[in-house]
Amino acid sequence: MLQIRVKPGIEDRIRGMFPWIYKPEIASYSRKPKKGEPVVVRDVSGKFLGYGYINPDVNIAVRLLSFDKDKPLTEELIRERIKEAYEYRKRLYINSNAYRLVHSEGDLLPGLIVDVYGEYLAVEFTTYGMNLYREAVLETLIELLKPAGIYEKVNETAKRVEGLPVEEGVLYGEVPEEVVIWEHDLKYYINIPQGQKTGFFLDQRNARKFVRNLVEPGERCLDVFCHTGGFALNMKKAGAGEVIGVDISELALKEAEKNAVLNGLEGIRWVKANAFDYLRQLAKKGEQFGVVIIDPPSFAKNKAAVPNALRGYKELLVRGLKVTKKGGYLAVFSCSFHITEQHLLDTLLAASLDVKRQVRVIAKTFQDLDHPWVLQMPNTLYLKGVWVEVI
Ligand SMILES: C[S@@+](CC[C@H](N)C(=O)[O-])C[C@H]1O[C@@H](n2cnc3c(N)ncnc32)[C@H](O)[C@@H]1O
Repeated sequence: MLQIRVKPGIEDRIRGMFPWIYKPEIASYSRKPKKGEPVVVRDVSGKFLGYGYINPDVNIAVRLLSFDKDKPLTEELIRERIKEAYEYRKRLYINSNAYRLVHSEGDLLPGLIVDVYGEYLAVEFTTYGMNLYREAVLETLIELLKPAGIYEKVNETAKRVEGLPVEEGVLYGEVPEEVVIWEHDLKYYINIPQGQKTGFFLDQRNARKFVRNLVEPGERCLDVFCHTGGFALNMKKAGAGEVIGVDISELALKEAEKNAVLNGLEGIRWVKANAFDYLRQLAKKGEQFGVVIIDPPSFAKNKAAVPNALRGYKELLVRGLKVTKKGGYLAVFSCSFHITEQHLLDTLLAASLDVKRQVRVIAKTFQDLDHPWVLQMPNTLYLKGVWVEVI
């Protein structure tokens, strides 16, 4: 097997079980590496550090799967890890038939995402190395879950960066254009082939439930960046009056509209608009809401994008706070690792000073437990939400 040695100083981080090695951190190779092949990682004196796979063409050159000398990277290890991920999900109380079964580094399977939508699965191979194990992955999934169909989604960024030779499409059985899933006591249409991510933002399941605690009967509520209506439907279910859901995606709003009908919920207005502009208009008109949700897409895919992203958050929060009534609630989320909880708190503070309103934090939420957060790998905590009351 290919052997590499890392430069002095890097070994401490690997002994701390951080599973990435960046290309400039590699001191030497036992031979020319092949894209995706397994690798043994050693420190500069030759002591064992871990097993992983390598892609010499990318910045995150090595992703480690094992820090145990007796567990090299084999097909068997991949199968075992998928089974462990499945057992973990069985122990969780997931009140839905849709959940994330494999969450990449969060399940010690870098480069693999598997989402379950009832009897259908959506998979993503996001690294060249993991893609080489696709047969073993599919066989294990079929053996464990006996799905009616498996659809491969392609993450375009990963494909471009890693040079993956993959295409979207059905890998096994049949996958209809639309699947109906349930979460808590609501149903949703999921469009696996055309939807964003693998079709649904499964990671917000707990937050979608939590919002119900804040809704006063008959109160106006606002779901900004509503996608297929998750928060809006839950607010309506909790007895809200008029609910407005805003998103820029026509497809997402069509699904949201159908989801409202599917659940027999009336009185939700779906608005196709740029959220920044729409919030400005609402604020200008002096509109007020009892609960305001702001759940934007990732504005910061890397560190360099953070200052711009924070300016975006500030704008959204100033406008969001203006339209939240006294005694009302606002929640803001970041689904980017680079925008931290502290960033959200600092930006909330700055925005609340701008609008001269005090806010108190009433809750924090994170990605639901089927998207595991491994402490050794800080990047696995990506979704943070801060909930405040405007006083
Ligand atoms: C993180 S998702 C929201 C998930 C949603 N809260 C849920 O529970 O399903 C972000 C959404 O923002 C939408 N979006 C992106 N840019 C937008 C913009 N400038 N204005 C309005 N919506 C936008 C996307 O179409 C996507 O549906």
